[in-house]
Amino acid sequence: MRESSGTGLILGIESSCDETAAAVVRSGTTPLSNVVASQMSLHANYGGVVPELASREHLRNMVPVVREAMSRASAAAGHPITFADLDAVAVTEGPGLAGALLVGITYAKALTFGLNKPLIAVNNLEGHIHAVLMEARQRSETPMELPLLALVVSGGHTHLYLAKQQGTENTWTYRNVGRTVDDAAGEAYDKVAKLLGLGYPGGPWIDALAPHGNPRAVPFTFGEIKPRIHRDGSVPANKKAPTRSEGPHFDFSFSGIKTAVLRYVETNHLRAAIEGHRAAIAADPAITPKSPAVAKLCDQQTLDLIASFQYAVVGNLQRQTFAAAESLGARSIVVSGGVAANSELRRRFQAEADRRGLPIAFPSLALSTDNAAMMAAAAWPKLLAHNFAPEDLGATPQLRLGQQ
Ligand code: KG4
Repeated sequence: MRESSGTGLILGIESSCDETAAAVVRSGTTPLSNVVASQMSLHANYGGVVPELASREHLRNMVPVVREAMSRASAAAGHPITFADLDAVAVTEGPGLAGALLVGITYAKALTFGLNKPLIAVNNLEGHIHAVLMEARQRSETPMELPLLALVVSGGHTHLYLAKQQGTENTWTYRNVGRTVDDAAGEAYDKVAKLLGLGYPGGPWIDALAPHGNPRAVPFTFGEIKPRIHRDGSVPANKKAPTRSEGPHFDFSFSGIKTAVLRYVETNHLRAAIEGHRAAIAADPAITPKSPAVAKLCDQQTLDLIASFQYAVVGNLQRQTFAAAESLGARSIVVSGGVAANSELRRRFQAEADRRGLPIAFPSLALSTDNAAMMAAAAWPKLLAHNFAPEDLGATPQLRLGQQ
């Protein structure tokens, strides 16, 4: 039997993609430290995350990041916190890049084995939901009313979950009630930004430029999402699309709008202008999404295209999320993941939630992207329920959350 210390302290470890992260969180509510070593600038050279480079960087960063998290936790607590004081170690089991996940899992397994402490496996998507719940608890708000509908929207995911707590141990359960059938929303942002000669990741560039354009200039539309079918009417077997639970589903598709942007660029002969942005950004590192110079980067037609793209994507996310909330009787809404940082998304979701009288919460910008505090927070109810990982825990790159 592995030993907890009764301190409520969980060390979280996250390495599912391009961030090496460690955090110490007390009782699922109070982060004493939250350290993130981002590899973004490394991968920016390639326009996307390179899995082998990510694993190598995690190997390099894991030990210093954990040390830093322990040392900052001690400073925050005002007394030394050692590994012996931990109640458990939580680690991301998936979804994510296999090699990247394995670095965190192997480290966490070795640490808990050596310390004789429990290991808790956490789904990264569950972590994103708990980032928001943890911050709501910190603000001492009344708990988000259940069931809650969570939109997890990032570079790799666009999922809607109906979440509730059940049983005497208040175990969290999730039902996937919507997902993208092709690209994730963040992936569409990244691909469209690349197509328009902007930097990586694309979300912050489009977010910064969209307010300078006319969102109604290009009328992008989203059609109904139908499953792909064979001529004889049968549905093709698809490992990525498991059989689904009964009840309505609220799916997304973002590959069509990406193609529509490409077509608009070609029909309107925008290539030369786009190569101009690409060259300007490459030549001047001072041009960033946050710099005032960014507004002068693009001509008006490109700005209108960017604004229209964002207006359509956010509108689609908003329509599906609120339709799901209404149909499924959700009593509050949580939006998380990298795209939850988007300013137009926050503004429009907040306005719609206010109109409907639904409580809504977003993570702080620091907790929108991958971090380990959210993993330690999600692990807290599992610690209370003694829901520990097996000793042979492995990485599950396609790990799903809850009932599909
Ligand atoms: O959650 P995250 O950090 O990583 C994973 O995808 O796992 O999300 C990154 C994604 C990228 O696609 C990025 O372009 C997008 O989040 N993103 C944004 C914004 N900031 C980051 N998308 C729209 N607006 C933003 N402000």
